[in-house]
Amino acid sequence: MLVLLTDRPDRSIGLSQLLEQIAPCRVLTPQSRAAELGEAPLGLVADVDLLQPLAARSLRSLMATLGGAGTPLVCLMRTMGERSMAEARGLGAGLCLPGSTPARTVAQAVLAHLRPTATVEAVVARGANQAGNVITGLLDIARTGGPVDAATVDEGLAPVLTAVEVGGLERWLATVRSYDDATYQHCLLVTGLAATFAIDLGFSERDRQQLVRAALVHDVGKARIPLAVLNKPGRLTPEETEVMRTHAAVGHQILVKAGGFDETTLSVVRHHHEALDGSGYPDGLAGSQISDPVRLATICDIYAALVESRPYRAPMPSAQAIDILLGMTTKLDIPLVHAFARTVSGT
Ligand SMILES: [Fe+2]
Ligand SMILES: [Fe+2]
Repeated sequence: MLVLLTDRPDRSIGLSQLLEQIAPCRVLTPQSRAAELGEAPLGLVADVDLLQPLAARSLRSLMATLGGAGTPLVCLMRTMGERSMAEARGLGAGLCLPGSTPARTVAQAVLAHLRPTATVEAVVARGANQAGNVITGLLDIARTGGPVDAATVDEGLAPVLTAVEVGGLERWLATVRSYDDATYQHCLLVTGLAATFAIDLGFSERDRQQLVRAALVHDVGKARIPLAVLNKPGRLTPEETEVMRTHAAVGHQILVKAGGFDETTLSVVRHHHEALDGSGYPDGLAGSQISDPVRLATICDIYAALVESRPYRAPMPSAQAIDILLGMTTKLDIPLVHAFARTVSGT
């Protein structure tokens, strides 16, 4: 558990949500009683004005209750003036950040500060779990023809981005490869790859989220493919291949009907099996008709399919999978494959 002590709870909501990705977060105000905590927290984040006597007193008594200097303390400072800083240091703050620091940066700094205690594995497992719940819920609803909810999908975005940022791609892939269900494992692999690729390419927060959203839902149409075809442990017949290929257009229809999904997501879902030479499906798009996000998603999708583990075959080593992608010169955006190779080079 983490504790966020704040005297401006309204402005701290975004921060408490991000801290939740590290560990369950209890929000206290200077008026709360520390005795209510129950267990010793991993760390304490104080977003209070230390020059206000009530706030300083409540932080001091909270630290005393928790055993003093043993608990990592991060202070968000209203001013970085000498008096406030001395107060924060006196209370045992290991890290002082300006109060205006963006919530995501604060969460990352908190994690770095806590690293010895809050295990990175736990953050990755939590991210995989949350995104996995989104995928399971999405496929279940799509299978039964119920209404898919775009807002629910978005609950999976930040956990994945945080997990790969904090834990690295390799740890994400190792965690996700241990899952049995092929579609579930595949969707989480593609999502982690897309998240890391977007971060490495320097995408804005909005563009990162968009690519991760698209990756999470890209195979939603598989919910409507008969399991005998979807999970067949061998080569598909030509007829079965035709059935399997409907998942792209079907997934697109599901999301259009649901409403609330952005154009990039819709286009990735429909076109992630297109090829630059026009040989893909469902629309046989070629060259410039295939957008950059679709090209990125396609690379992540093919790579994931190659390195996935299955009960009946060992996963292909990363270098071999990259060689295959680099050999698809007429179908894939090769400069992007080279960039992708750098993203996965450590795995
Ligand atoms: Fe697909
Ligand atoms: Fe896929």
